[in-house]
Order: sequence, then C-alpha cells, then structure tokens
Amino acid sequence: MVSHSPVLKVALKKNETAESVELHPETVMKPSNLDYMRVRASGTLNGEIPIAGAKNAALKHLCATMLTGDVVQFNNLPVALKDIQTLAALLQEMGVRVSLNANGSGIFQADQITSTTAPYDLVRKMRASVLVMGPLLARMGHAEVSLPGGCSIGTRPIDMHLDGFRAMGAEIELHEGYVRAIAPKGGLMGAEILFPKVSVGATENVMMAATLAKGTTRLMNAAREPEISDQAEALIKMGAKISGHGTDTITIEGVPHLSGCTHDVIADRIETGTFMVAVALTGGTVKLKKTQTQFLTSLIGPLRKANVTIESDGDDVIIHRNGKPLRGTDIMTEPYPGFATDLQAQFMTMLTMCEGAGMVTETIFENRFMHVPELCRMGANITVQGNSAIIRGVKKLKGAEVMATDLRASVSLILAGLVAEGETIVNRIYHLDRGYENLVGKLQACGADVTRGRHADDLEA
Ligand code: EPZ
Repeated sequence: MVSHSPVLKVALKKNETAESVELHPETVMKPSNLDYMRVRASGTLNGEIPIAGAKNAALKHLCATMLTGDVVQFNNLPVALKDIQTLAALLQEMGVRVSLNANGSGIFQADQITSTTAPYDLVRKMRASVLVMGPLLARMGHAEVSLPGGCSIGTRPIDMHLDGFRAMGAEIELHEGYVRAIAPKGGLMGAEILFPKVSVGATENVMMAATLAKGTTRLMNAAREPEISDQAEALIKMGAKISGHGTDTITIEGVPHLSGCTHDVIADRIETGTFMVAVALTGGTVKLKKTQTQFLTSLIGPLRKANVTIESDGDDVIIHRNGKPLRGTDIMTEPYPGFATDLQAQFMTMLTMCEGAGMVTETIFENRFMHVPELCRMGANITVQGNSAIIRGVKKLKGAEVMATDLRASVSLILAGLVAEGETIVNRIYHLDRGYENLVGKLQACGADVTRGRHADDLEA
C-alpha cells in the first residue's frame, strides 16, 4: 500500500550538471513570467547529455493509473517537469496516492478515488489533464473535466475524444465550461470508431476507456506515435488486451478489471531531437545517453542532408557536425512517422544558419509559427505564407531580447542564442519547465554559456 505521501516537490540546484542532479524535496520554484534565460555563443557543444523519459508518454501513464486499484510503478519518469507535477497534483486531488521519487520513479495507487472532477485551475495549466476522462469514465462511470480551452499554438478542441466516448455509449453534456461524461448503467460498450483526423490525445483517451469496456473496440485512423505504443505496452502489463498499436488500427478487447504493473517510460524523442539540432547548429560531438534513433527517422534524414552525422552507439546516440557547412532542406510536419510538429521550431532555427534556403510547412497546428518574429528580431530571414515559411540562411544571427511563447518555441530561441553574436535574453522561460528537465545543466555540461535568472520587475509593467 502506498502511503498518502505528498507529491514530492522537486527543484534543481542552479548550475548542476545533469549527471550530478539531485532532486530536493522542497517546493519547486514557482514559475514566473519574470524568468529569463541568458545565452551567449560559446563555440561547439561537446560532452554527454542524459535523455529523460518522454513527457508525452509519462503524462498518459499517470492517467492510466486510475484504471486499477492496485499499485502501479513507472520508472524513468521526468519527475522534475512542471507538467508531471501538475498532473500528479490533480491525481492526488482525486484521491490517488502518489509518490514521485528523486530516482525518477513514481508510485501510484488509485484504490480510493474520491473525486471524478478535474477542476479548471489545473486543467487550464495543463491541457493533457483531459486524459483523465477515459480512465475515470471506464473505472468510475463518470468524469467531469473543465474544457481545456485553447493554447498559444491552436484551439486544441477535444471533439474527437468526446465522440469516441459517445460511440461507447457515454452521455456527454457541456455545463458551465465543464464537460460531463456519464457511462451507461452497465458500463461502456465496445465500438468501431473512425477518427476523422489523426489525434494523439483522442487515440490515447479512448484506448484507455476501451480497456474496461464490455466487448471489443476498434480505433481506425488511430495515431501511431511511439508514446501511444508505450502506453499500450504498459496497459497490456496491467492486463489489457490490445493489439495493432503503432499502426492506424488499434483493437482493444475489454476486460473486467486491470491490475498493477511496473513499467519503464520510453526515452523522450523530442528532447533527443532538440539536442540533435543544437549540435547541428553549434558543431561539436555530443553523446545522447539512453535514447535511440529509431523514432526519429523523419528528423535524421533532413539532418543528414544538412551535413550532420548521426550514429547509434548501443543505448546512446552520437551527434557530430562533420565540418561541412549546414545545407538548407525542406520539411513538412505530419503525424508519426512523419516529421514531428514538436521539432518544427527547433529545425527552423537551424535553417536560419544554413547555406541556401529551406521551407517549413506546419500541417498539425494552426498557429505554430510564433517563434518566427522572434527569430527575425535576431536577424533571421524568414517569410511566412499561410502554413509555410521560407527560411533563407544568413551568415550570422545577432543576440537580442526575445519572448518565449510556448514550450518548443522557447527552446528554439535558446538554440538560436547558442550561435548568435552577442547576448540573447529569452524571456518568459517558464514555458521550458513544462517539457525540459534541467536544460541549463545539460547544455552547460557540454560547454554552453547559458544561465537562468529572474527580472526584478514585471516586464508588463
Ligand atoms: C499531443 O497533443 C502532444 N501533447 C503535443 O505535444 C503534440 O504536438 C501533438 O500530440 C501532435 O503530435 C501531449 O502528448 C501531451 P492531437 P494532442 O490531438 O494530443 C486536432 C508538446 O510540445 N484535434 O494529435 O493535443 C488538434 O487541434 C505538445 O509536447 C481536433 O481537432 O494533439 C490538432 O490540430 C504540443 N479534435 C490536431 O488534431 C480533437 O478532438 C492534432 O492534435 C483532438 C485534436
């Protein structure tokens, strides 16, 4: 039985390297829009960087813990991420016993769910909270979740999640900004569900609900992301009957209940890709620890075309810039296995320094070019036409004060600062804490001149 321990708040000591990082059970520094990152060009990156467990797998694993009353343990959890802590706090509010530990393991037990409501003040901070709906609906027959609202990259509706639950017999109603879902008396029923467009979250939410439904559910036009396969593998360890994950058709045969399990979260392919692009920009040789190239073929192709060397080395990946100039190339974001939208901003930063030009087309989100005006303030030459941007390489970028707008745009500006002349201040850097564990320490460990600070007064003032 897991004691009802408080969620371990963690904070990383400043300037610690990733290797020696110790998580401290103290209240994590409250993010503030006063937080900034100071970056100065400091030559090539050389050294080793440990890659964390995948944020976009871990968040769903935490939701899945509510599908059983048994103890569930996840290892390789990125426990220092703000999003993980926010979701862990939400689970705790619902009565789940939670313990996030310094060694990256998380232990959960949902044997006494006391609430099936996800309140607005938590959901607005972290939209992935809507993924508690599937497990609550399946296990408790009821879920009330605040509509997450849009975010800076798009409106992010959840209509396909709700249509999936309706197909399984749930009644759905909107009530004062909350969506209320109620399962039929006898529980959710298996169904044939064809998603009108590929959706990672809808696939995961409905797949979790289907594990405890009566009968078989078939998800067609399902998302194929590696994080979905990792979720399916964990659910199968809990006793779920799932097949086809990783393809566009997933079949789930409902079972009466699920049991506990222990599961290691897969490596974060977006963090891996982010550091690959960092080395492409700065040059040098970096070994990315405990990750793989398998899920990044859509990035590795364009990087190799741009003259970057990437090799697997057992459980690690070695990135090396082979001295030849970076060459521009075109990319278009698509659902997996296409080019990941979460790497689009980072890749665009690299293109700003390439010989020739490159085109970036964003097909997943309607507003994911907010890093463009900030990069242009640093001297980048980028023209946007609809959902495409033409980037013409420039000889150099110039340091400037810029504003982060979302998680991946934040890191793209830091990458630009690593090669810009002079100093770059990236404001509102708290976005980073949602998705990158100890980015400062990891970059410093490879020789980067990056530090974090907090402005004395509010920028808005
Ligand atoms: C997940 O978001 C990721 N987040 C995103 O990562 C990632 O960019 C996205 O998948 C695409 O890969 C997490 O896993 C927590 P979608 P999700 O449902 O599930 C539309 C990051 O930086 N749509 O695949 O919300 C939607 O508006 C974040 O780590 C509907 O129209 O993405 C979008 O245009 C950003 N109706 C498209 O589908 C729905 O019901 C794909 O969204 C659901 C989605």
